[in-house]
Amino acid sequence: MRPVFIGASPNTEKDDIKLALKLLFQPWNWREDKNNSVDRFEEMVSEYHDGVNAIAMDSARSAFYLLLKAYGIGPGDEVILPSFSCLVIANPVIWVGAKPVYVDIDKETFNLSLEDLKKKVTKKTKVVLVQHTFGLPVELEKVREIVGKDVKIVEDVAHSLGGLYKGQKIGTIGDASVATFGIEKVISSVRGGMVLVKDDRIAEEIISEIKSAPHFSLVRIKIALLNPILWWLITPVYYIGIGKATIGRAFSFVAHKLGIMGIMIEKCEYDTQKPIWIPARMPSALARLGMNQFRKLDRFNNHRREIAGIYEEKFGAFKVDQNSKHNYLRYPLLVKPGNRSKIYRNTSKNHFVLGNWYKNILYAPDSSLAKLGYKNGDTPNAEWVAERIINLPTAVNVSTDEATHLVNIMGV
Ligand SMILES: Cc1ncc(COP(=O)(O)O)c(C=O)c1O
Repeated sequence: MRPVFIGASPNTEKDDIKLALKLLFQPWNWREDKNNSVDRFEEMVSEYHDGVNAIAMDSARSAFYLLLKAYGIGPGDEVILPSFSCLVIANPVIWVGAKPVYVDIDKETFNLSLEDLKKKVTKKTKVVLVQHTFGLPVELEKVREIVGKDVKIVEDVAHSLGGLYKGQKIGTIGDASVATFGIEKVISSVRGGMVLVKDDRIAEEIISEIKSAPHFSLVRIKIALLNPILWWLITPVYYIGIGKATIGRAFSFVAHKLGIMGIMIEKCEYDTQKPIWIPARMPSALARLGMNQFRKLDRFNNHRREIAGIYEEKFGAFKVDQNSKHNYLRYPLLVKPGNRSKIYRNTSKNHFVLGNWYKNILYAPDSSLAKLGYKNGDTPNAEWVAERIINLPTAVNVSTDEATHLVNIMGV
């Protein structure tokens, strides 16, 4: 059986591999091509989101950074964001000189706690970043009631692209949103992100910044194009071998050593520093990958809902509403803290590699927390959940039979 990895390029299908291979041999089209692929990708995303301005770049972290700059956020301002998230999306607040203020989560939805939000809003609050965790929508109208009309609500659609909340497209409900097309997200161009913003003046500022931003280096583009191809080669042979000495592990080890697997979080980001090469423009080659995936967005999300329904039947953690149109980027499950390693072992023996978002506050080592402005105890629910969470795969690389098998062998 082909192993199921929750994180290793889970959205990649044969046509994506073919495209990546073709692009790999067309370096003259990597940064810019005569089809203006970046513009076309932006148009496609904008059209899907009811015509809001869509501006492409290298990542969601850059998108949030440029958006904060365009809003004029700086020293003395506060930006509220969830601690049950990733540090890369908190860093841009520090890069513009503002203060990140972390809001706790609701233990049932993993989304921001409205009660805690009420306590954290001050006169200095300028922006609230709202993450629809694992695809479950935040009640944005209630957030608006709490923060008032002058605070910008920015949706982080990293987990929820393509979802609907009360009939409205997630990502078009707040003032703006930031999207990522990273490897493990709803769709993937390996690296990439966009700002979606209604305000034309803000859009123009961001466009002028990104137009003068540097290009990705050719090496980075090559590494990005290689990533899905390498995982495609490694995955089927990952467990072939004796014990831990397997062909796939050896291949992956060598590829990492050669630096061709790419890294998603640079060392300096753990110290809240901005890598010098970002923000960068989205390369055409990655826009091509992104467009190919974006065409499959609704199919991917329908599949995720179907798989989540199988988990739901067994575990009953959520009400998977098959009529609603939000997705489940991953299916979250809370288990006894001591049980996690046993579950990972059981499932990995059966060739399933589960996920661990977010096993730490801001997915960060303890040594980064103070730099990120987080003190232990600031968000107790998020800390409690982080000790218990595991994530089950829902992407197109897991079939309904495999999902059914997984729930039976988990030992929960
Ligand atoms: C919730 C969330 N938002 C945003 C991001 C950042 O995306 P990018 O890697 O495109 O900067 C991540 C990355 O892991 C994330 O988990």
